[in-house]
Amino acid sequence: MPLVDMKDMLQHAYRHGYAVGAFDLVSLDFLEGIMAAAERVRAPVILSLAESHFEYFDFELVMPAVEAAARRASVPVAIHLDHGGSLKSAMRAINLGCNGVMVDASHEPLSGNIQRTHAVVEMAHACGVPVEGELGYVPGIEGEDAELHPGEVSYTTPEEAKTYVEQTGVDFLAVSIGTVHGRMRGTPKLDFQRLEQINEALGIPLVIHGGTGLSDDQFRRLIANGVAKINYYTALSDVAAKQINENNRAGASSGFTALVKNIRTVVAAEAERCMRLWGGAGRADEVLSRCRPWMPVEHLIIYNVEGIDKVDAETMIAEGRRVLSTIPGVREVFTGAAVQDDAKYRYTWLVRFCHPAVIDSYRKHPDHVTFADTLFRPVAGERISIDYQAVDPVLAELLIIT
Ligand code: 13P
Repeated sequence: MPLVDMKDMLQHAYRHGYAVGAFDLVSLDFLEGIMAAAERVRAPVILSLAESHFEYFDFELVMPAVEAAARRASVPVAIHLDHGGSLKSAMRAINLGCNGVMVDASHEPLSGNIQRTHAVVEMAHACGVPVEGELGYVPGIEGEDAELHPGEVSYTTPEEAKTYVEQTGVDFLAVSIGTVHGRMRGTPKLDFQRLEQINEALGIPLVIHGGTGLSDDQFRRLIANGVAKINYYTALSDVAAKQINENNRAGASSGFTALVKNIRTVVAAEAERCMRLWGGAGRADEVLSRCRPWMPVEHLIIYNVEGIDKVDAETMIAEGRRVLSTIPGVREVFTGAAVQDDAKYRYTWLVRFCHPAVIDSYRKHPDHVTFADTLFRPVAGERISIDYQAVDPVLAELLIIT
């Protein structure tokens, strides 16, 4: 179960002087290619889903595949929402399975950015999920020519960064020091002195957006100055598009599968190059043994109702499902009635939390309190309630050995 706590993962990278690749994926070919690369070179990896790409795929449909890929991996994986625009999108991402979220309010003035980011941090931390904020502005759009979106770079300053991190509580900071999203002519000039000062002022893992197009030497200097996560997409998109064009030129039949043949291979090759260059290759086992596994919790209640009939019980249950499933960190609400007529307890709630932190925040959440006090507890006097954390025998063994 190599989904791991993303804060632990990036702290490890930060302390040991390498960076984890956060690769934006837009299809199953990308997902499989990125995972194949990580397995091949034994690197930790971040599967990143950018909100701006949600018009090309259905986030809700893709997430189960992303989670399945992470869970069957033998290398440590985190799943991250990239450039989330609101508190609502961060909540949705967590409830769908992301264990790291980015809130991008970098277009706002400092005070607005702080306010919006802080709200996301409060919610996400109550779910055990770390948050990446962004300060300063990295122009451009992933996958497109940077010249088409010529926004001004707004550089991060060390002073503002310190205020921002203190007042928001973010776990990682995306900084603007000269990179741009997307394809550039030439190599951008980066302000390493500024990066060094930011790193000295903050002492937390830093993030670089717009990884495409930087030189090997620039990557090394970024990592030497505190960058522990590198966001990368356009280069993957370009090798995939090139492969499609080649398939076409080589006379591939016009069928879809013929045109997309080998995309996984070329995406894997480019991701592998990055993992080696950024120093993550060969780190998988060390990271697995040092990072907390990301384990869900099942909140189980079995109960009987008294004083209401079956129809009223069903109405109460339906209302509970509606209310409880929107509480941050709740992945799923299962409600059931016993199959056996003679079962000691007739009804159950099985509420899946993304992380043990949710046990507490769920219990105190006003929507839970209201539902439990007014609709549930008055009719469910006889009940048993227990929280179960998932146990993974393979991982447990690994943690005991090391
Ligand atoms: P590139 O597309 O320039 O690699 O940047 C990716 C990125 O920063 C995603 O957040």
